[in-house]
Amino acid sequence: MCGITGYTGPRQASRILVEGLKRLEYRGYDSAGIAVQQENLANDGSIELTVIKQVGKIAALRQAVPKDLAGHCGIGHTRWATHGEVTQTNAHPHSSCDGRISIVHNGIIENYQALKEMLEHSGCSFKSETDSEVIAHLISYHYDGDLELALKAALKHLKGTFGISCICADEPGRIVGARNGSPLVVGVGEGEMFLASDVTAMLAHTKRVVYLNDGEVVSLWPHEFRISDSDDQAVDPKIDHVTWELDAIEKEGFACYMEKEIFEQPDSIERALKGRMDFEYSMAKLGGLNLSKKELHAKQRVRVIAAGTSWHAGLVGCHLIESIARLPALAELASELRYRNPVVEPETLYLSVSQSGETADTLYAMREVQRRGGTVLGICNVVGSTIARESDGGIYVHSGPEIAVASTKAFTSQLAAFYLLTLSLARMHDMSHHEGAVFLQQLRDIPGLVKKALEQRDRIQVLAKKYAHNQDFLFLGRGLLYPIALEGALKLKEISYIHAEGYAAGEIKHGPIALVSPETPSVFLVPNDHLREKTITNMKEIKARGGPVIAIASEKDTEVAAIADDFIPVPDCDSRFQPFTMIIPLQLFAYFCALELGKDVDQPRNLAKSVTVE
Ligand code: AGP
Ligand code: GLU
Repeated sequence: MCGITGYTGPRQASRILVEGLKRLEYRGYDSAGIAVQQENLANDGSIELTVIKQVGKIAALRQAVPKDLAGHCGIGHTRWATHGEVTQTNAHPHSSCDGRISIVHNGIIENYQALKEMLEHSGCSFKSETDSEVIAHLISYHYDGDLELALKAALKHLKGTFGISCICADEPGRIVGARNGSPLVVGVGEGEMFLASDVTAMLAHTKRVVYLNDGEVVSLWPHEFRISDSDDQAVDPKIDHVTWELDAIEKEGFACYMEKEIFEQPDSIERALKGRMDFEYSMAKLGGLNLSKKELHAKQRVRVIAAGTSWHAGLVGCHLIESIARLPALAELASELRYRNPVVEPETLYLSVSQSGETADTLYAMREVQRRGGTVLGICNVVGSTIARESDGGIYVHSGPEIAVASTKAFTSQLAAFYLLTLSLARMHDMSHHEGAVFLQQLRDIPGLVKKALEQRDRIQVLAKKYAHNQDFLFLGRGLLYPIALEGALKLKEISYIHAEGYAAGEIKHGPIALVSPETPSVFLVPNDHLREKTITNMKEIKARGGPVIAIASEKDTEVAAIADDFIPVPDCDSRFQPFTMIIPLQLFAYFCALELGKDVDQPRNLAKSVTVE
């Protein structure tokens, strides 16, 4: 979950490490620290490790690091605690007893208790309550002049997931890293090298990167790096070029990343669609699927594997695929699928959906399916991420870096990918050329409609002021808008900490209607199709019991506007595309409620952007 940075080169390491951590802060932000190789104060040429750690955000660490801290090689960490409270002692880096070796770790060491007892018997004294500290002591236990060999020996004892980065005072300029289940990327500079859990940490310095695979170990010096695999064989590195621009990870005048990302959606959806709409054949051009038309045609079912917001996109996708392409489709929570001993059938197409491409639940469920012979396509945002690399093919959604913890633009780009895939599958089955053309034209109009939906910003801000102090909310929708209700509730929960339940509107009479009271507003998503009347009936049921109703419906729907206590109009469009227009007011509502309550929108409590632990 956490962020890792590493630097070796001619520049002041501490500045680059802290600046990199700032870029990674969205990955975890309860505490942070750095370790830097520094010349001994006695100036006798020997090196010591200086470790500085702070509880709180990177700003607190920045304050604690002396501006003139010398040293050209070091490692950094921003933590999302799994083992041990959020304290300065538990913050990373952790060091060996003699202080000669420091490590940072992302992930969980499952057998740390047994290792800790073993190391304590051999005389080590532990300072922290973390699982990670055993790594520092194990490396030190095996150290005999070569950090890479010592790390490799330590790895043999470890069970669990890790991205590890370490330095040793006796090997100036060298960083050693290892990965198993948590991402690590090498940044290749001119006379300097970087190591990080995420390319955003190094984007300001280099765009040439090498993604490590599980089981690989890397040694970095300013002018070279060397990767070896789990069999100790040298790996020929493949250098990738990152296409993201630095300004994509800046706030560009917005108050926070979430606001910027919400307003970027007309462009990010456009990017997801670009070059993929084939008007001549009324088809979608999805070059990365790695399946022949015949193979795709042979698939008889679709299963989505995902978590959180990506799962919500999957629910919309499955509804589309089943109702339009006529293939039975189900979206599964990755954390549930993996442990169910799932039946994996060759004629099922599996889709692993993930913004980060690093979510542990999704990754492990996908591997389980692949182990049983299933074909898994990835729908990912982050290029080169583990899910993107390990899937059998897929679709990049190209939303650009998403920094705010609450996912917004990645969601609508994932939707765009699902609409394209639905078109491909539908055209292989019973959608005509003409129907395909209509579908494509409607899809092409989406960025413009989303732009129009964003114009309700001010009205939604006023509503947020009115409602933000309520303790409980219901979000209700039917059909394609049921997953949007779930997503609206998740957004509100995540960033404003208001309790919100997303429900299928037809299901509330089976229980949740007992919650309705003048203090529990219901947000209704009213479609403009055959489900409209039924949704209006559900709205009236809530009104009859004194529950306030906020309705979101087509701007033309004067009847709904008259029934609701408050009304948010969205641009009118074919109901098949309403998930795009309806999610916008919900994102804005959550955002403005959080602002009204004075919450930290980009970095909500207890959460982290990419969840690399189970
Ligand atoms: C979204 O707002 C959440 N922060 C979270 O539910 C997220 O969607 C989930 O953790 C899955 O992440 P992924 O898309 O990177 O796999
Ligand atoms: N398990 C480690 C800890 O709790 C690492 C957590 C992280 O990935 O930030 O310190």
